[in-house]
Amino acid sequence: MTGTRSIYNLALIGFMGTGKSCVGRLAADLMHFTFLDTDHVIEARAGKAVSDIFAQDGEPAFREWERRIVEELTRRKKTVIATGGGLPANPSNLASLKTHALVVCLWASPDTIWERVRAHDHRPLLNEPDPLARIRELLATREPCYRQADVLVNTEMRSLREVAQHVIHQFHMAQSAR
Ligand code: S3P
Repeated sequence: MTGTRSIYNLALIGFMGTGKSCVGRLAADLMHFTFLDTDHVIEARAGKAVSDIFAQDGEPAFREWERRIVEELTRRKKTVIATGGGLPANPSNLASLKTHALVVCLWASPDTIWERVRAHDHRPLLNEPDPLARIRELLATREPCYRQADVLVNTEMRSLREVAQHVIHQFHMAQSAR
C-alpha cells in the first residue's frame, strides 16, 4: 500500500455524517497534529457558508474551491484533514491527497447516515423531499471513489474515540511500514 509513499498527514474521506470532522478533531488532539476541515477553509476564504456557495454560485464553483484547497494541502505536515463528502469524487483530488497523506475512509450505512444528519440543515445536497433516497443514490455513485482509500473504517457500532484510535493506529502502522 505505502511503497515509496510520503505519509506526513492523515486525510479522512467519506460520506456526509460518517464523522470525519469529529473523528478528525479528536485524532488531531491525540496525535498533537493540526486539524483542518476543507469545508471550513472554503467558508473562510469565500466569506460565506457552503450552503450559500451552492445556492449563489452553484455546485461547480464549490468543487473548484475544493480542487484549489486540495492543491495547497500538498505543502502540509502533521495535519489531520477532514474533507467534504464529495471531494474524492474528483479522482485528481484523491490522487493529490495520496501524495502526502494516508487516506482513510469512514464508512456508515445510509440509515445510520440519515440518523446522524437529519437534525442538521446545512447540507445543500440533502435539501430534498426524500433525503434518505438521495443518500442511498449518492452513496452508491460515490462508493467506488471511497473504496480507493488506503483504509476503510466502519464507524457503525464504534464510539467516536474507538474510531479515532483505530485511525491513529492505521496511521502509525503505515508510517512504520515505509
Ligand atoms: C458534500 C458534503 C459536505 C460539504 C458539501 C458537499 C458532499 O461536507 O462539503 O455540503 O458533496 O457530500 P460533509 O461531508 O462534511 O458534510
